[in-house]
Amino acid sequence: MRRAPKARMEPVPPGSPMGFEPLLEAHDLVQQFEVRLQGGISGGVVQAVSNVSLSIGRGETVALVGESGSGKSTFARSIIQSPPPKSGQVWFLGEDLTQLRRRGLMNARRQLQMVFQDPFASLNPEWRVRQIVEEPLVGYGVGTRADRRKRVDEVLNLVGLNPQTFARRRPSQLSGGQCQRVAIARALTLDPALIICDEAVSALDVIVQAQILNLFEKLRAELGLSYLFVSHDLALVRQVSDRVAVMHLGEIVEVASAEDLYRAPAHPYTLALLESSPSTDPAAPRRPVVTIKGDPPSPLNPPSGCRFRTRCPMAQDKCAEERPRLTAISAGHQVACHFPIHGDPKERDLG
Ligand SMILES: Nc1ncnc2c1ncn2[C@@H]1O[C@H](COP(=O)(O)OP(=O)(O)OP(=O)(O)O)[C@@H](O)[C@H]1O
Ligand code: SF4
Ligand SMILES: [Mg+2]
Repeated sequence: MRRAPKARMEPVPPGSPMGFEPLLEAHDLVQQFEVRLQGGISGGVVQAVSNVSLSIGRGETVALVGESGSGKSTFARSIIQSPPPKSGQVWFLGEDLTQLRRRGLMNARRQLQMVFQDPFASLNPEWRVRQIVEEPLVGYGVGTRADRRKRVDEVLNLVGLNPQTFARRRPSQLSGGQCQRVAIARALTLDPALIICDEAVSALDVIVQAQILNLFEKLRAELGLSYLFVSHDLALVRQVSDRVAVMHLGEIVEVASAEDLYRAPAHPYTLALLESSPSTDPAAPRRPVVTIKGDPPSPLNPPSGCRFRTRCPMAQDKCAEERPRLTAISAGHQVACHFPIHGDPKERDLG
């Protein structure tokens, strides 16, 4: 049985869910990596995640989107303490994961599972499906052999794989979509509250992608699961997320309901990302084309003030001087920009 969260006094992070009971709250997470050059000389510090706060509600799907290298995976890994963040807090089911020691963290991790991008690489090629899916139960010493067998059959059925057909196969005898179903089954065995999917469907073809996204939706409805859905593909997350957080160079620059974010993006970076992401919806609003010029700045030496300013068509002097904070512009919609786009972006002069 899941424990009720303990009462506590921390402020609620920006982007807290509306209409969902809070499940996970990350506060001010910072993750940095020192780069070592030849001879052990320091090449600087990568600012991979800089003071990022985000919450996820029970039964909610939150998408985390952004360009390659924006810090999505690092943030996701900081949540599961792999490695632990340099500073900040991660409240999950009433406990701050950053304060837990090995055993406490292991217990909390039962309810916090991850599914990765490459289904083949994430499964042991020598093992049969039954052993792969059973492994977390064995690791946590759950049930008898017969109990575990029953549970493996249950979760294989849940993900649409007939145990009689698939339990004895090895990963090399499965398609990419079937491998990802096995990875999802393994994540489900311990009855988690939250699954973090890091580009979990990116390596699959479009039809299999749709099947796996439908499976995530089915599991959410049946099991009340929450998801953090990490992806670089805005069009893809649109159909599965309640809220979307946009990450740029280690910072969250906009958080909104999926509906608001796609209808009325307020951050120039979000607008540019949407522009570069082909829409499959013929009714989608037509927007002015805002292309992101140039490569992202180095996370070793991010620009002062707004980290998007070197590529932003709307940048002004203030953008170099002051770091914009995530600020609410309407209920549930926060943006970190000194000059956010209000209303219909078609009406704004975007330079
Ligand atoms: N262990 C590490 N050591 C040094 N730098 C790292 C390490 N892990 C990540 N980084 C750097 O941190 C930044 C964020 O990387 P991250 O993998 O989180 O990005 P991402 O948004 O997940 O990108 P992608 O969409 O390509 O998966 C990048 O500049 C990356 O090079
Ligand atoms: S703060 Fe300035 S540079 Fe940054 S996104 Fe807003 S307008 Fe552009
Ligand atoms: Mg990544």
